[in-house]
Amino acid sequence: MCGIVGYLGKRDCTEVLMDGLEKLEYRGYDSAGIAVFENGSIKTVKTRGKLSCMREKLSKEGSPKGFCGIGHTRWATHGEPSDINSHPHSNGRVTIVHNGIIENYTELKAFLTEKGYTFVSQTDSEVAACLLDYYYSERNPLKAITETMKELEGSFALGILFKDFPDRVYAVRKQSPLIVGEGEGEYFIASDIPAFLKYTKNYVLLEDNEIVCMKSSGTSYFDVHGIPIKKEKQVAEWDVEQAQKCGFPHFMLKEIHEQPDVVNKTLEDIVKDGVPDFSERGISDELLKNVGRVFIVACGTAMHAGIIAKYAIEKLARVPVTVEVASEFRYMEPIVGENDLVILISQSGETADTKAGLELAKEKGAKTLAVVNVKYSAIARAADMCIHTLAGPEIAVASTKAYMVQITVMYLLAFRFAFARGKISLEELKKLTEELMLSPKAISDVIERKGECQFIASRLVNVEKLFFIGRGFDYALSLEGSLKLKEITYIHSEAYAAGELKHGTISLIEDNIPVITVATQENILAKTISNMEEVKARGAYIIALCRKGTEFSENTVDLRFDIDTELPDMLVPLPTVCALQLIAYYTSVLRGNDPDKPRNLAKSVTTE
Ligand code: M6R
Repeated sequence: MCGIVGYLGKRDCTEVLMDGLEKLEYRGYDSAGIAVFENGSIKTVKTRGKLSCMREKLSKEGSPKGFCGIGHTRWATHGEPSDINSHPHSNGRVTIVHNGIIENYTELKAFLTEKGYTFVSQTDSEVAACLLDYYYSERNPLKAITETMKELEGSFALGILFKDFPDRVYAVRKQSPLIVGEGEGEYFIASDIPAFLKYTKNYVLLEDNEIVCMKSSGTSYFDVHGIPIKKEKQVAEWDVEQAQKCGFPHFMLKEIHEQPDVVNKTLEDIVKDGVPDFSERGISDELLKNVGRVFIVACGTAMHAGIIAKYAIEKLARVPVTVEVASEFRYMEPIVGENDLVILISQSGETADTKAGLELAKEKGAKTLAVVNVKYSAIARAADMCIHTLAGPEIAVASTKAYMVQITVMYLLAFRFAFARGKISLEELKKLTEELMLSPKAISDVIERKGECQFIASRLVNVEKLFFIGRGFDYALSLEGSLKLKEITYIHSEAYAAGELKHGTISLIEDNIPVITVATQENILAKTISNMEEVKARGAYIIALCRKGTEFSENTVDLRFDIDTELPDMLVPLPTVCALQLIAYYTSVLRGNDPDKPRNLAKSVTTE
């Protein structure tokens, strides 16, 4: 999604804005721009394309010289990526950058056109600039903002410059993230912390409908009515190093390497006296014992973590678990009641559909639990209970370490669920927890063998389509392996429950089509092997991810990656998914892609 930065201080504003935008590149974008006060007037430079195009344009046209400005990376929603549609947008006396969607922009545009405003872009954002200008009749920025907020429907974070106030940056948010960095005599706005982390760790979280005004004398905060409010400062737990590549060619590879460590941290955080303990988070055994049904609501990779959780909770605790795609859940009138627990899984904690799922669950009186990586994010704050996963900042668009800690947390929750409901004894709870403690080492072992994953990737680099198959936990992994691969390699990939293939999809199998088979679960291995043989007989090229020592009949498997671990089958997804991530990563790199910035994608999806 779009990235916003803003700066007011003593540094070269253009440099700070460009640097901040580079730190937000991971969010996904197709154009960029900045607006800086230079000798009292606003100079705007914007262009379609990457920040390198912006840098080129700045060196050709000259960088604006000043100390106060705003910047933006745009992920197109209304209107194609083009120079004109890029932000900042200006109209008369107001210049803005916008993240989000203004839902009633057509009505507002008609109203403003009637008032004599003309529009140059196809964006919804330009309407916000005009509306601010319209309400700026008394040259009172705060009044213009509060009046505008009454009219705007949808989600927005806005960074705003008023022509008459060359020493101020205003910002406001509703349902789109925006934070304010407070350094020594310098202030920042940004969509995410990495944008200003190198200058300050102190930040203030703007809540919905709150406004900030940054001046050289300091920051002031206001509510939706323009009444001053006091805000609490937070200190970012991240350090600069965490937001940098630290010698790795890509964030994705760095984040894959961080997995053993973040799983360890997560275990240390939750396991007390050898067993998972969620009581500090308000999740008591009493609550788990009395839950009727569990709904897991999430999107993408987080939803795939939910499928692993479903299998683990149902297997151990015998509670029915439904996994729902958040964008479906929110509109399908789900039958959820007071006795149910709705678990929202999200890395960013800002995903619009997951957030809407949470609101719906609350309306229906269900208990809500957020499993979220970004502390203080909207979902983390709105849920009744929250488990903060400790993956640290995940910059790469393709989620890896966040998934890994999500499934770690969900295994721990499944264990506690089973204990609370009397399905396992304390000894069994301890044993399961102890086994899970072996997972960081198992993941490390896979990372050490990344060369083998690279070799598998070299076989995939030129294919046009492929399949993933598996059963049970292996099916959940197939879904995730396939998503990871397709999002960064652009190879058409489909994941199927191995037994389902012959109900239609097998007709797509022809000579040499790779079928990546995840076959780690002993109880259904024979069935999976039959499915492998079915596709092999039709010419498939089989790549198997299986436990060390698994035997297949001669000539079934063309390439294999052995998971060599003592982990029980239920926990084998932890190291196995790491191999799938590495295969996706290397295939992407070998195809000449940048795995950190896949086309059309955004890190945090704050629109429906
Ligand atoms: O921030 P969230 O976990 O809520 O994001 C959900 C999905 O958008 C996300 O997992 C997406 O599928 C990733 N790009 C996958 O790698």
